[in-house]
Amino acid sequence: MSKLLVTGGAGYIGSHTVRSLLEAGHNLVVLDDLSAGSEKAVGSATLVVGDVGDREFVRSVFSAYGPFDGVLHFAGSIEVARSMVEPLDFYETNLTKAITLLGVSVEHGIKAFVFSSTAAVYGIPESQPIVEDAAIDPINPYGSSKSMFEQVMADAGQAHGTGWIALRYFNACGAHPDGDLGENHEPETHLIPLAIAAAAGVGQSLQLRGTDYPTPDGTCVRDYIHVTDLAAAHVTAIEGLIGGASSGVFNLGTGVGQSNRQVLEAVGRVVAPVPYDEADRRPGDPAELVADSRAFRAAFGWEPKASDLDTIVASAWKWHQSQWGISTDAIAK
Ligand SMILES: NC(=O)c1ccc[n+]([C@@H]2O[C@H](COP(=O)([O-])OP(=O)(O)OC[C@H]3O[C@@H](n4cnc5c(N)ncnc54)[C@H](O)[C@@H]3O)[C@@H](O)[C@H]2O)c1
Repeated sequence: MSKLLVTGGAGYIGSHTVRSLLEAGHNLVVLDDLSAGSEKAVGSATLVVGDVGDREFVRSVFSAYGPFDGVLHFAGSIEVARSMVEPLDFYETNLTKAITLLGVSVEHGIKAFVFSSTAAVYGIPESQPIVEDAAIDPINPYGSSKSMFEQVMADAGQAHGTGWIALRYFNACGAHPDGDLGENHEPETHLIPLAIAAAAGVGQSLQLRGTDYPTPDGTCVRDYIHVTDLAAAHVTAIEGLIGGASSGVFNLGTGVGQSNRQVLEAVGRVVAPVPYDEADRRPGDPAELVADSRAFRAAFGWEPKASDLDTIVASAWKWHQSQWGISTDAIAK
């Protein structure tokens, strides 16, 4: 059993990881400012509410609750479109505040630091599936802020011996099978929750953005990875680092691409037909993003277990029903 600090553990991916870490027997302190997360989502972990960029506050958390064996850093700003219009805010949250956390971690001799990175570091990749040493060429401040912090971790690791892993998630999706944890972004920009909302009649008709991409059905292709598979990857990564595994960056995806139309079909099978309008491409959306995650599988023996589309949509639907207070009977299939 290890004692771990989890920033952003009240948010979507963080809360699922908190649950998996608790189930694995670890002792957790969650640091979250609750700007986007929920107190309920941390379960029996200790929750400390505050800003990960407040150095004195973070130091006080390390002093009061440490020593920690490792840190998992999820806290951050995630809306790509907002990063285009408020880049300074993004760099402050995703880079400056992350450096503050890493700095305090180094002060306390932390040897295991796991960071939430993203496929957005690759920008518009030249080939698929994407391997970790593909060119890093982000096309928005969100992706840039993440790739810059990867570099900061690599340099700090070199200088201070901090073991680190950056996990580059592809499309995180789905919800906990228990139905009590899930995605609750505000604003919601992700396709699956928007499609479920449209199908259930609680959201607007879906805008299918871009139908003329060079893909088999003309819509964007993405690699959807169930949030419980991501959570399991974090447990393996932090335990591995604490056990002496090497630092590095790893893609987390299934290696299988699904088009936007295939996602709508899955929502149609599981929930109800999705009302949608075809619309222009969204600026900056690459045609295809599919992960080559063989490196993480080989290093940590991880395999996605819940990442087929129907399982993803069914779990998300269960969660949204509990949030919206509607039953399956209320939906005309
Ligand atoms: N959701 C995805 O598809 C996706 C994909 C790739 C990478 N990521 C990364 O994974 C991480 C988690 O994403 P998520 O979808 O769970 O987001 P989320 O918004 O649900 O969770 C982020 C959590 O961080 C907290 N937080 C934000 N700023 C903070 C601050 N300054 N101090 C303390 N807490 C703060 C929020 O309250 C929230 O609980 C993010 O770093 C994100 O960039 C997410």
